[in-house]
Amino acid sequence: MPRYSYGTPGTGNALYHGENSKVLAHLAPALRGAVRCIYIDPPYNNQERYAHYHDALSHAAWLANLGERLEQLAPLLREDGSLWISIDDREVHYLKVAADAVLGRENFVSTVVWQQRTTRENRKVFSNNHEYLLVYAKDARRFRQARNPLAPSSDLLSRYKNPDGDARGPWQSVSANVQAGHGTASQFYVLVAPNGRRHEPPKGRCWVYSQRRMQQEIHARNVWFGKDGNGVPRLKRFLSESQPGLTPETLWTAAEVGTNDSAKKHLLQLLPDDTVFETPKPEALLHRILHIATHPGDLVLDAYLGSGTTAAVAHKMGRRYVGIEEGRQAVTHCFTRLRHVVEGERGGISEQVGWSGGGGFEFFRSGR
Ligand SMILES: C[S@@+](CC[C@H](N)C(=O)[O-])C[C@H]1O[C@@H](n2cnc3c(N)ncnc32)[C@H](O)[C@@H]1O
Repeated sequence: MPRYSYGTPGTGNALYHGENSKVLAHLAPALRGAVRCIYIDPPYNNQERYAHYHDALSHAAWLANLGERLEQLAPLLREDGSLWISIDDREVHYLKVAADAVLGRENFVSTVVWQQRTTRENRKVFSNNHEYLLVYAKDARRFRQARNPLAPSSDLLSRYKNPDGDARGPWQSVSANVQAGHGTASQFYVLVAPNGRRHEPPKGRCWVYSQRRMQQEIHARNVWFGKDGNGVPRLKRFLSESQPGLTPETLWTAAEVGTNDSAKKHLLQLLPDDTVFETPKPEALLHRILHIATHPGDLVLDAYLGSGTTAAVAHKMGRRYVGIEEGRQAVTHCFTRLRHVVEGERGGISEQVGWSGGGGFEFFRSGR
């Protein structure tokens, strides 16, 4: 077994220490059409020299370099797969055009805005508090059907109650009338409640069902007339029959998915003796991406692994993964972090997903 492999062998999880275009060329035959979600967080070309990598190419060289990697990555996607790219204000517009050329404008899904810091940067003209995720699908139509909604919030779930002790479980009520303009003659009548009270539809409205159907629904205890039976009729919608998942919005706040600072704090708990990695993504951000884009067992790929966030999150969420990193952080951060994950590390999203350890990964040096 390679030196930095760890845990249960044969999981299919792999970390590659090498330059990504060389590693991708090597992996292409095996991964073609197999990857459910690719996430990349390349250097943003912001002319910084970080402790773990340099980020100072000319605009043209940076764009050509990334365009070549996108050409290599796109064929690896499954038909229902998606590609997510982190980027900031400096290059996002150029990258969008370059990525359109590779994946097709019609397969561009959305731009997500992530609030990556909550403190004000006073040395700049504008304090840059957000960056972007460009979201592409291999096939936008397939992705639309395949993507997962977000889990319902506790606020949404709290709207489902059971004031009449219905054996079918909690429900919420919705209006029993619709706009009159859309109705047929059979929807205009005086609705008589079980206690004899008579209800006219509100002005400009008609009942959602015909009189006969409404009586059937009342009989089936699907219509609610309030606790005392005198209320305006409303329809019961059961939690067990609805899928109250939320459509993801395009604004992802720090409170929901964390910040670069929260990610650094997590890394410092995990790797206290190391030089801090300056640009990690929070696990909660990757958790949301992988939740929307994948199911357990799906294959996830990150070709700019950095400190290993994507692999750590995929591991904790029961997804398989391939991560590629050319810097020495492939060992100092990715290997060490994933070893902690296998051992049941408690930070990041561990509590949220009930992570308690297990599994394994293989580590390869490649193309260097
Ligand atoms: C912004 S960091 C990624 C951070 C990561 N998302 C995290 O949460 O830690 C970009 C990483 O890409 C790596 N990188 C840049 N060019 C690369 C290449 N051609 N092949 C492999 N890795 C590369 C850099 O060494 C750096 O660690």
